[in-house]
Amino acid sequence: MEVIVVDNYDKLSKKAFEIVKESIINKPNANLGLATGSTPLGLYKEMVKEFENSKTSYKNVKTFNLDEYIGLSQDNEQSYFKFMRNNLFDYIDIDFENTYIPFGTASNVENECVRYNTILEENIVDLQVLGIGVNGHIGFNEPGSLFYEGVHVVKLDERTRNDNARFFESKNQVPTSAITMGIKNILSCKKILLLASGKAKAKAIYEMIHGDILETMPASALRVHPNVVIIVDKEAASLL
Ligand code: F6R
Repeated sequence: MEVIVVDNYDKLSKKAFEIVKESIINKPNANLGLATGSTPLGLYKEMVKEFENSKTSYKNVKTFNLDEYIGLSQDNEQSYFKFMRNNLFDYIDIDFENTYIPFGTASNVENECVRYNTILEENIVDLQVLGIGVNGHIGFNEPGSLFYEGVHVVKLDERTRNDNARFFESKNQVPTSAITMGIKNILSCKKILLLASGKAKAKAIYEMIHGDILETMPASALRVHPNVVIIVDKEAASLL
């Protein structure tokens, strides 16, 4: 694991963008794995800003999101589908046909998991962007998730629902389950870029890097992957 410590969130976003841009310059038809949440927002702003100025093209890029809430339709403002449109896809030249996110309102969620898993098997992700939960989750792989699982349905941890309640009007609007890439899918990506900012993430970052590799700390699975870059700001690195 390569760990890069930067001063603040702005530098974290710029450094992350350098790595994303490099992968697209090296391979204009790269498969990019994307995350939602607060952490990658600065990276997405950098991508949009640079697209407007220099026109790095995303025309041939395909994207694959980590997860989606079950029960939220694509036009729901809190869905991850909408999040990606609002924060990135609407502002770059990506072909929407090339953006993949599980359907949160699929009539059969188990079939939807199989469908999304097949898509991932057919399109190996070149660079997967990850955030990390305070409890060490990656994607929505909560503590206790099996390291060998592919795309699956997960019941969200109360801690995660509390953390995500800030995006909703009230906590009881936060869905109780989601479809997520499994750790197995994440470990199949060629390169992983994990971003973490703020003191609340310090313990999870410490345990991911220095703790035991355990299913109770999902992010610790990344230690078996040969190509992981972690960018943390000083606060998230404060226990290292
Ligand atoms: C998002 C995702 C989650 C977040 C994590 C951190 O698609 O899969 O694992 O990366 O919950 O969220 P933030 O960045 O909001 O702290």
